[in-house]
Amino acid sequence: MNNECCYRLRPVLIDIFGIFHFTREGSPSNRYVLLKGYDERGFTFFTNYSSRKAADMETNPNVAVVFYWCPLRRSIRIEGTVTKLSREESETYFHQRPRASQIGALASPQSQVIPSREYLDKVENEIKQKLGESEEVPLPDWGGYLITPRTIEFWQGQTNRLHDRIRFRKSEEDVDDKSIHRGENGWVYERLAP
Ligand SMILES: Cc1cc2nc3c(=O)[nH]c(=O)nc-3n(C[C@H](O)[C@H](O)[C@H](O)COP(=O)(O)O)c2cc1C
Repeated sequence: MNNECCYRLRPVLIDIFGIFHFTREGSPSNRYVLLKGYDERGFTFFTNYSSRKAADMETNPNVAVVFYWCPLRRSIRIEGTVTKLSREESETYFHQRPRASQIGALASPQSQVIPSREYLDKVENEIKQKLGESEEVPLPDWGGYLITPRTIEFWQGQTNRLHDRIRFRKSEEDVDDKSIHRGENGWVYERLAP
């Protein structure tokens, strides 16, 4: 594998992940989004609640997430389910964003077919004129999702192809302390062949 790109291009953004879900027809679908937080509950990101992904995840909340940090040759894979954050959490974060981003979110009917670039600029200008400089931007149909993980796999690339893979999964099963180990808070962990 040629990793030259990894060493030449330093990552500018480290908080981008691919999120995969199933469409209502059962086909896989994915896109990149930005990680906005993580805590003991899981991982959060924000998006338009009328978008294609939001409609699909309403039907099937199962998702798979993947991060890759190239220079570190490190990856994390997560499988779990999504739930919407509270309106309060979404609203608080929305209004912390730069005003231009708030207006952009309001102007863009994410995932819908639109006639042109000019259409977006026109809607954006109309909103700017309507709100003026200081009026609060109303929250569009937009907000956060919490990804509650059921498995998290840490992958560390090595130079000899024998990469390290450690998978954590939520399980109450008995562990043998040889290949399956008990972690904290209902997690077990185990090593997978690379
Ligand atoms: C680096 C990067 C970060 C992105 N972050 C977000 C994000 O945080 N939220 C979001 O809704 N879309 C984000 N997007 C746009 C999505 O990839 C996607 O185009 C959008 O969410 C519409 O997806 P959908 O039509 O499948 O619902 C990002 C795109 C890129 C390339």
